[in-house]
Amino acid sequence: MNLNIAVLPGDGIGPEIIEQALEVTKAVCKKFDHTMSFATGLVGACAIDATGNPYPDDTHALCMQSDAVLFGAVGDLRYDNNPSAKVRPEQGLLAMRKKLGLYANIRPVTTFAPLLHKSPLRSDIVQGTDFMCIRELTGGLYFGRPQGRSEDGNTAYDTCVYTRAEVERIVKLAYEYAMKRRKKVTVVDKANVLATSRLWREVAKEIAAQYPEVETEYMFVDNAAMRLIQWPSSFDVMVTENMFGDILTDEGSVITGSLGLLPSASVGVHTSLFEPIHGSWPQAAGQNLANPLATILSAAMMFEYAFGLMEEGALIREAVDASLQANIRTADIQTAGLPPYGTKEVGAWIVNYINNK
Ligand code: IPM
Ligand code: MG
Repeated sequence: MNLNIAVLPGDGIGPEIIEQALEVTKAVCKKFDHTMSFATGLVGACAIDATGNPYPDDTHALCMQSDAVLFGAVGDLRYDNNPSAKVRPEQGLLAMRKKLGLYANIRPVTTFAPLLHKSPLRSDIVQGTDFMCIRELTGGLYFGRPQGRSEDGNTAYDTCVYTRAEVERIVKLAYEYAMKRRKKVTVVDKANVLATSRLWREVAKEIAAQYPEVETEYMFVDNAAMRLIQWPSSFDVMVTENMFGDILTDEGSVITGSLGLLPSASVGVHTSLFEPIHGSWPQAAGQNLANPLATILSAAMMFEYAFGLMEEGALIREAVDASLQANIRTADIQTAGLPPYGTKEVGAWIVNYINNK
């Protein structure tokens, strides 16, 4: 098979972690006799610097003509510290999601046995956690209009909007995944307060009726945030709106050991996109400190979700597990007393493992 990939490193640590994920992807292609062609594009602060646009038309054209997009991270301190900046790197990511129609963001939260002790939670609570958060990605507060400030600057507003069709397609997807898993869906909303959440719940009830084998649980988001740290292994597939999913998956990632571990796949109408859920950590850029595993695991999801190449994805997971077992780990997850490895060294170890398989 030929894998035609758009590579968007983005900002901060993006280029370093993407480099490692690319090396791993190449090694897997070599092992399984696939060819791979890729082209790089700009998104985020680097795209603003070069073109004034955080998601330039060239980048969009590249994504549209590729079979998958491998993406690093966007964000830059120059913008984080300047709330009045009109053009922001994050707008590039949001525009990319919207224009590619990537309405579903799949974030699998699983534990890694060698890292159980790294969780801020007790091992007996975290053990066995294995759920998938399906986050709606192109609606809700992040896209609703109007958004802005009053003329005197003293009032600000965002608008949360969802249509029935938007809710239907994502909730359906959640049930489809649940059918392939442990057949349980948790619908997370705030239906006791928000009108959009009441629409979610109404639609979810209709779809639940079409999947009688699946157990459905409805949970308010505040309760879900609590349950996630109290009993994370009780979740199988969680489906929720954009902002709730953004927040709950950061929480989910850290209970398994580190934010640097959680990959994601964004799927929808056009080319699927694969990205770590963490940000661009500008303070660490270029220092060989960042954990490349979330991006490497995103490449595993790319093999599986974009190309249906399951064995290839499995080999990457196996190599990642082996690197953890061998304590070849970046500082965020290294065992106390052992030397931390750099981004490049972890990547090279995984590539070497794959080459020698
Ligand atoms: C994420 C990130 C993004 C989001 C930011 C960078 C816009 O936090 O992918 O979770 O909020 O979706
Ligand atoms: Mg986030």
